[in-house]
Amino acid sequence: MGGKLFYNAAITTPLMGGAPAAGAAQGRVASWEKGALFVEGGLVAAVGGEAEVRAALAAKDAEIEEERDCEGAAMIPGFVDPHTHICFAARREKEFTMRLQGKTYLEILGAGGGILSSVNAVKAASEEELFETTRENVLSALNFGTTTMEVKSGYGLDTAEELKMLRVIARLGEETPLDIVPTFMGAHAVPAEYKGRADDFVDILVDEMLPAVKKQGIARYCDVFCETGVYTVPQSRRILEAARKLGMKLRIHADEVDDTQGAGLAAELRVASAEHLLAANEKNLKAMAAAGVIADVLPATAYSLRKPYADARRMIELGVPVALASDCNPGSCFCESMPFVFGLAVMNMNMTVEEALTGCTLNAAWAVGLQDKVGSLETGKQADFLLLDGDSPTILAYHAGVSPVMEVYKKGVYVA
Ligand code: NIG
Ligand code: FE
Repeated sequence: MGGKLFYNAAITTPLMGGAPAAGAAQGRVASWEKGALFVEGGLVAAVGGEAEVRAALAAKDAEIEEERDCEGAAMIPGFVDPHTHICFAARREKEFTMRLQGKTYLEILGAGGGILSSVNAVKAASEEELFETTRENVLSALNFGTTTMEVKSGYGLDTAEELKMLRVIARLGEETPLDIVPTFMGAHAVPAEYKGRADDFVDILVDEMLPAVKKQGIARYCDVFCETGVYTVPQSRRILEAARKLGMKLRIHADEVDDTQGAGLAAELRVASAEHLLAANEKNLKAMAAAGVIADVLPATAYSLRKPYADARRMIELGVPVALASDCNPGSCFCESMPFVFGLAVMNMNMTVEEALTGCTLNAAWAVGLQDKVGSLETGKQADFLLLDGDSPTILAYHAGVSPVMEVYKKGVYVA
């Protein structure tokens, strides 16, 4: 089997360890100023300094079918976006205007808008329409360098509509170049009909929806919005434990707006990742570090909600592995651009470029359970990579407001 050699590239990549990168390891990356990557059968067959890679290929008589001079461009792994609600039917621009005028996110949700208005839009859309709208947004993310993406349901809130969303999400994985990780989030809001009696809806979630989702066989994770006015810690625990019994992996929206001890529940249940954490307290962050729970931080959401950013620096000091995600959704954060997220992480959360890179790639891959396949440029992993319009990943923070992603490759093939 022959392969394609990308040479004269300034390669930077995190490297696999036995666990998500925490503490000082978050900022440790490998780099080769004059590097090369050899792709065979969609996988990385060799990577490193160009001279060593060429020598290794010659030594084993590898057939180089094609060569590409990258002209010194920075090469990094494709972005892994571990938290999105990108499957939606309609935008909510009017609501954004209301927020600009002073209404809060939870006030809008409490008045039947917000997530609940997205639920109505999904209901009104055919499966085909929902797929088409979502595909457009996913392909836009691909243009910004996202090659793997987690996508949550949660704008259905009844069994039929949630299963419809999950079918659309599965189809994205089949009909776009991205690897898609489906998450069931039936506990994204309390449906209007259950206002004031969320426990009754938790019964439905546990007794009807989760078994149906399990039977459908698409969702890999189950997520809950644990928040003031949405699901309490005991309700969230009940839903997540039921999902775990059915063999699903877990994640949780924790302490996004208020500190409701969601991060503590994340540690107690040892979920894969706790997400948002803008209001998480120190004690619970320490518990997360001890339990090895990844923090998915979403700086574009803090930006869009005009909230203080999650304390990623403190998380890293405490030994919590940090992943970065877009949270792309029509309400709290309409942003599918990982370069924007990267820039915010460096400029507003004081993460180093190396820490942000690990957060957007390998730690994010751990957060979605795909660490053996994607998230770093290492032999045997998928050749998912980006060429940037700059000498190093620093360009992602330095060149603000544009996307320095010039070329996107998935399994070694040019896709955007
Ligand atoms: O992660 N917090 C809950 N879910 C999303 C918002 C979804 C929406 O407003 O439609 C979030 O911020
Ligand atoms: Fe979210």
